Amino acid sequence: MPRSALMFAVFLLAVSFALQAEARPKNRYDETTKTCRILESGPLEWDSRPWGEGGKVFREACKVCHSRGNGQGAPFLWVESKTPAAWNRVFAQRYPKCAQNGSWDKITLDQQLKLNDYLYRFGLNSEDVNDSC
Ligand code: HEC
Repeated sequence: MPRSALMFAVFLLAVSFALQAEARPKNRYDETTKTCRILESGPLEWDSRPWGEGGKVFREACKVCHSRGNGQGAPFLWVESKTPAAWNRVFAQRYPKCAQNGSWDKITLDQQLKLNDYLYRFGLNSEDVNDSC
């Protein structure tokens, strides 16, 4: 392949990555605190990514039980197990049994918000979700 064609291919790849990142929801209305969480810029941008605080809380406070083949009776969960709206309901209503029996007590409200931001931003079909506030 001529060098210019290769460079063009690399350019197209970069553009498609940029567009993909662009299409994720930029904000999230949080029912628990009645605030608008801006996910697109500033510290929350980092925190709502898999390698940020939100992803870390998910791995350390949830995946300890919700991993594949766990012996705890917890269903396997990953970010795309639920849509962004469904993840919001998990935290707004705290309906899971584990939320009610104290398994979430170690996480602070701030960590919960960042976890919710992460799961919302990268949840199932999040590319199609519009900004909500
Ligand atoms: C100590 C183990 C444990 C921890 C830690 C834990 N869970 Fe659970 N979770 C469970 C078990 C067990 C169930 C199944 C309960 C039942 O029988 O309904 C469950 C159920 C759920 C459900 C409902 C199932 C579904 O598919 O909708 C959700 C959602 C959930 N957990 C989310 C979380 C999140 C988010 C965290 C981290 C903040 C978390 N869990 C931490 C054990 C845990």
